[in-house]
Amino acid sequence: MKIAAIGQTSASSQPPRAKIRIGTLQEKKTQHEPISSVSLGDFASARLADEAGIDFILVGDSLAMTLLGYETTLPITMDEMMHHTRAVRRGVRYALVVADMPFASYTINLEEGVRNATRFMKDAGAEAVKIEGGEKRSDLVRRIVDAEVPVMGHIGLTPQSVNVMSGYKVQGKSLEAAENLMRDAVALERAGAFAVLLEGVPREVAAKITAELSVPTIGIGAGPDCDGQILVFHDLMGLSTEPPAKFVRKYADGAAIVSNALRAYKADLESRKFPSDEESYHLPKEAQLALAPVLTRKRAVVQ
Ligand code: KIV
Repeated sequence: MKIAAIGQTSASSQPPRAKIRIGTLQEKKTQHEPISSVSLGDFASARLADEAGIDFILVGDSLAMTLLGYETTLPITMDEMMHHTRAVRRGVRYALVVADMPFASYTINLEEGVRNATRFMKDAGAEAVKIEGGEKRSDLVRRIVDAEVPVMGHIGLTPQSVNVMSGYKVQGKSLEAAENLMRDAVALERAGAFAVLLEGVPREVAAKITAELSVPTIGIGAGPDCDGQILVFHDLMGLSTEPPAKFVRKYADGAAIVSNALRAYKADLESRKFPSDEESYHLPKEAQLALAPVLTRKRAVVQ
């Protein structure tokens, strides 16, 4: 990083675009324009996603695994999610910022759910929250929306239910399961959700839900017929440590790029090729003269 550039972002060099709001996503569904989204949890990647024109950024609780190294999303706390949401907020100028409510932050009782949802807006700069679960969350969604916090629902493979589902499995494969998913989606829309995220759902079922709902659907592992798509930043960048799921398309081999750069840096440093003279600061001639008593002293230790 250049010293002079500390604190600046390159966003100022980007052409301005309209701020994305919930209404923009609804408009995109109406106009059949795909909605783009990425799930991430830090300032640097948020800034890049915003500059790339991504419509909305989810501060997904998957950051528990990708950034914090937990085995599941369950251990991450409200405070940790707030911390990451604030970092993302600082990197975003145009995209809509949606914060993922972590496990047990909205299921104990409705009051706590509403309080935690409003914390994301008031203290972390989120513009909406996402909660996992369908029909059984209807009352909660209504209460949170009543508190002026827009809610995105999340149904299908809901990672916070990994233990109840006995693993990460595609949902909605039987007639009964597909009917339940459809009921969940409609219940969320009726409760006031502004969008419904469909994860790990057969393409045919996701397409039917998308056609039935008037609010946008956002798919991850739910086929191309959803109104929008979301991928986890670490997956699309090839930075994940886990083998990628079937639905992930890797747009870069980030792990190889980063690893090669680190090895090259270490090799340069050990062979004394880094830093070079050009990468060093120099005293101007007058300052060298002024500092001569120090620079030419036999022992640099002050007596
Ligand atoms: O936490 C997350 O990143 C998510 C995505 C799977 C959509 O919920």
